[in-house]
Amino acid sequence: MVGWLVAAALFGLSLLLVLNHFLPLILHFKSAPRGSFGWPVVGETLSFLTPHTSNSLGRFLDDHCSRFGKVFKSHLFCSPTVVSCDQELNHFILQNEEKLFQCSYPKPIHGILGESSMLVVVGDTHKRLRSQALTLISTTKSKGGYLNDIERTAIQVMESWKGKEQIIFCEEARKFTFNVIVKQVLGLTPDEPQTNRILEDFLTFMKGLVSFPLYIPGTPYARAVQARARISSTVKGIIEERRKKGEEANKRSDFLDMLLPVKSLSEGEKVSFVLDSLLGGYETTSLLMAMAVHFLGQSPLALEQLQLELSNWSVTNLFSSAQSEHQNIKRNKKKDEYLNWEDYKRMEFTQNVINEALRCGNIVKFVHRKAIKDVRFKDYRIPSGWKVLPVFSAVHLDPSFHDNALQFHPWRWEGQSQTSSKKFTPFGGGPRFCPGSELAKVETAFFLHHLVLNFRQKGP
Ligand code: HEM
Repeated sequence: MVGWLVAAALFGLSLLLVLNHFLPLILHFKSAPRGSFGWPVVGETLSFLTPHTSNSLGRFLDDHCSRFGKVFKSHLFCSPTVVSCDQELNHFILQNEEKLFQCSYPKPIHGILGESSMLVVVGDTHKRLRSQALTLISTTKSKGGYLNDIERTAIQVMESWKGKEQIIFCEEARKFTFNVIVKQVLGLTPDEPQTNRILEDFLTFMKGLVSFPLYIPGTPYARAVQARARISSTVKGIIEERRKKGEEANKRSDFLDMLLPVKSLSEGEKVSFVLDSLLGGYETTSLLMAMAVHFLGQSPLALEQLQLELSNWSVTNLFSSAQSEHQNIKRNKKKDEYLNWEDYKRMEFTQNVINEALRCGNIVKFVHRKAIKDVRFKDYRIPSGWKVLPVFSAVHLDPSFHDNALQFHPWRWEGQSQTSSKKFTPFGGGPRFCPGSELAKVETAFFLHHLVLNFRQKGP
């Protein structure tokens, strides 16, 4: 009897899942863009997420775009979805945030980031948190001291390479971006015990973000949720400590110091703000640095020119262009004088390298949105409630917008605006444009400054 009941329950559940999967397909068969839904429940998610090199679209998008066009329907992250590889539609989606579309990251991510994370909140709460974040960033920028912190941290990381035969650059880049962001947000230096504790918990937290969302003790997902709780209590401890010490402790001018007196944010929101900054400032920026160095070193053109340089010192190559730019900057500085904004603005070729690393590296390949109304755009119809994924990498690698799109060619940015445009959206766009974009670029530029001045690329 029990066996029959279990079988009937399983059958009912499967029927429900299959109906839930195919119903949107049947209802919107004619109106939604062409495409395929794949398997019940998982749909095409696994193929969509299959890893591929960052300067390629990957087999899934290549295949679907050639079969169905740049805009197609699919079933991803347990939801009927419209995937857009179309520049105009991507722009339209980003600009119509909260009017026609809304940020919508998968539910398990909410469990890890917390309900007050800026990536999760929508509507007025998002506006309030974001405006606070922008105020904080502009206050920090006006104080200026953080540029020195960035440079000091870069020098410290490179000094730790002395006497080493080999370093793993990705790890060094992570060390650098983590130390920069904990200093800026919490005022902590690498040798303080709290820094290590936060780093350990943060690494567990990051692993959980990309794991299967199963909350059973011991799974990476469950460990990440617990790690978030621990970081949260460490941050609360730091807040408590500063409150006790009062005014004299509040001279650090880090983010937390500026956040503490803000009445419009709850304690939970302040903690979330710290976590958002750590999350935003760590992995993405270290990836950008790794991409810049990878493309500088690995692009056949750069290598070829590097070889030419070895036999002919007058030939300009990627490294030497960057080197001469940085040598010029160094020449105009007094011994031990720190880099400033003017120096950063003068790093024009370096900024071209950074833009090109962002275009080819596609650190954030797509963002998550959902349609909050039935939307019609050109010939496409997006049903209300469907997930919508604007894919930035598809536009970055589209040869109709970028000549020789698959080639790393920093000179293409010469004379072009450095900010984002419809065809270049590494930091997103519209009301959710990344508030840390400038910090990420300055960090990378300052690190490259010391790297190209002090180190030489070894031939293959
Ligand atoms: C190369 C480095 C970075 C890349 C490629 C990047 C990319 C992005 C993208 C594409 C978004 C938009 C997400 C969406 O629309 O759903 C975003 C948002 C965000 N980023 Fe970044 N980011 C970088 C560095 C940073 C840094 C250094 C910080 C903080 C210190 C940061 C903090 C944030 C935050 C808080 C948001 C949410 C903004 C909102 O929803 O209003 N990011 N980032």
